[in-house]
Amino acid sequence: MAISGTMGVFIFLLTHFVTSLADKQDLSGKMFTFPVESDTAHVILVPNQSKSLTAVTVCLRFFSDLSRPQSLFSFATPINANAFLLMKREWKGVIEINEYDNVVLFRELEYIANRWNSVCATWNSQTGIAQLWVNGKPSTRKGVRRGRDISGTPSIILGQDQDSYGGTFDKAQSFVGMLTDVHIWDKVLPYPEIALYMNGIPQKTGGNVINWSSLDFTIKEYVLVEELVNGLTN
Ligand SMILES: *[C@@H]1O[C@H](CO)[C@@H](O)[C@H](O)[C@H]1NC(C)=O
Ligand SMILES: *[C@@H]1O[C@H](CO)[C@@H](O)[C@H](O)[C@H]1NC(C)=O
Repeated sequence: MAISGTMGVFIFLLTHFVTSLADKQDLSGKMFTFPVESDTAHVILVPNQSKSLTAVTVCLRFFSDLSRPQSLFSFATPINANAFLLMKREWKGVIEINEYDNVVLFRELEYIANRWNSVCATWNSQTGIAQLWVNGKPSTRKGVRRGRDISGTPSIILGQDQDSYGGTFDKAQSFVGMLTDVHIWDKVLPYPEIALYMNGIPQKTGGNVINWSSLDFTIKEYVLVEELVNGLTN
């Protein structure tokens, strides 16, 4: 028997709604492990909203021993693969924020191999100011891109640097190691909240765009969800 048009739509919506709810997982106390270097393994994060961003805060913790460049966070939109990219450039404490191909380098940051490093990056379109916090220390404030929003449906990927919307990965920039506590807000998080995050205190509320405690994600290839190991504070 053919399902009538209205009923079909209803069933679709219901299924979709139920699936979306079921897809969200609380990853508190867990981490993504990226065990091998590849140009395929990644995690797709589905944001809670896809409206334009006039400001953004991304917080995450990473654990790695790689000295080569690696993507920590890749946010693409259909018109630009580097809408908001966090790239660790080299081992000497340099992290790049790339916004619509405007690159700014933050130097002399104190991240350490083989331990958890807490990173928060903020940007606001009105002033264009971007800033990083790494393990409790703020970076110099620098201008990246001013007066324009991040608009268009986001493609948010961990583990790889998108050179096109949702793809074109480069093995030499892939992330190998562990990532945890990934949150995104649509505002510049006030300093006291960043300080709490830096101290390894679990987020009470979590990001309103990406929330680690209620995460909608898809794993592609060899990435594992594991219990958090190697204590956050060491
Ligand atoms: C994040 O998820 C947790 C667990 O579901 C929830 O308590 C919290 O309110 C969420 N945060 C936001 C900003 O939606
Ligand atoms: C998604 O956004 C809605 C509306 O802003 C909010 O009520 C809800 O808590 C958010 N969920 C997550 C997982 O952040």
